[in-house]
Amino acid sequence: MKALVLSGGKGTRLRPLTYTMAKQLVPVANQPILGYVMRHLSQAGIEEVGVIVAPETQREVREYLRDGKRWQFKITYILQERPLGLAHAVKVAQPFLGGSPFVMYLGDNLLGSGICDAIDRFRAEPADALVFLKHVPDPTAFGVAELDERGGIKRLIEKPRDPPSDLALVGVYLFSPKIHQAISCIRPSWRGELEITDAIQALIDMGGSVRGEVLNGWWLDTGKKDDFLAANTVVLDEYTRRDILGEIDAESNIEGRVCVCKGARVIRSEVRGPVIIGAGAEIVDSFIGPFSSIGNGSRILNSVIEHAVILEDAVVDGVGRIEDSLIGRHARVIKGQGCTKALRLMIGDHSQIEI
Ligand code: G1P
Repeated sequence: MKALVLSGGKGTRLRPLTYTMAKQLVPVANQPILGYVMRHLSQAGIEEVGVIVAPETQREVREYLRDGKRWQFKITYILQERPLGLAHAVKVAQPFLGGSPFVMYLGDNLLGSGICDAIDRFRAEPADALVFLKHVPDPTAFGVAELDERGGIKRLIEKPRDPPSDLALVGVYLFSPKIHQAISCIRPSWRGELEITDAIQALIDMGGSVRGEVLNGWWLDTGKKDDFLAANTVVLDEYTRRDILGEIDAESNIEGRVCVCKGARVIRSEVRGPVIIGAGAEIVDSFIGPFSSIGNGSRILNSVIEHAVILEDAVVDGVGRIEDSLIGRHARVIKGQGCTKALRLMIGDHSQIEI
């Protein structure tokens, strides 16, 4: 079994951050989303991973993943020149995939449960495709499945205006090599992309066996700011343990599951977990509330931060209160006069905001 990880695309829904970084590398709880994907593949014992990259972001994706040794597998990079869809990515990867069955994992999806059990089931009871479904509040943003009376998949539709159910297709798929034949039958959708959803539908139409399983654990598509903050909240809640490796002065109070990484300093401040404070970060005269991630080297001075993600080397200084926010690398948010209200921000790398 091989794996295909999709780490291309333009990340338009997470702009302005994605003007300067790949959406798959935006950190959740201070770790790039791709890191969680790779860990799941490694746990499942996958030995060969193809990573689809785009011309704009391939350099940083390669720099982060390197040869894959860290996860005990071998990575082959596959360039998709233009974002022409998920099924197009599989087409481009065909020389790498050959006649092997494979798991396809979208690099901006986060799954709570990992994929070991699913792969075991796929091996034990082979099918042409195994897809995962999840009940969602707004199915129009996803591929959607319509089931028959016995719970089998009847039909799949990409981003339907009028969804036949609330069961969204999760961004992890298991395929037999028959998917290549199905892809060769489909045409681009209204958004000009070769949709994997249409390819799976073609597989059904060809008489292939397609199984759907409703996912028990959580699943997060980190496409937009609020989804991204939700992902950060869930991951902090699930994985953060109290671990104080940095320096806390006598006037500070650290409550609950807070991870203070090496070289970080907390001075005259209160931190209430779950929170992660990255290596070398500095928290001075501030309050950091639950579900916040403070990136490596960032400095929070005289401010209140809650339910927010501050990326590396950013500075927040003298700002009354920042919540539900996503702040880019090296950004500076600095108090002007009379700033008292809570701010909700989404600002890109290197921005400077004076309030
Ligand atoms: C893609 C798929 C969609 C699936 C979603 C999961 O959507 O086309 O069927 O439900 O991933 O994240 P996209 O991210 O391309 O809008």
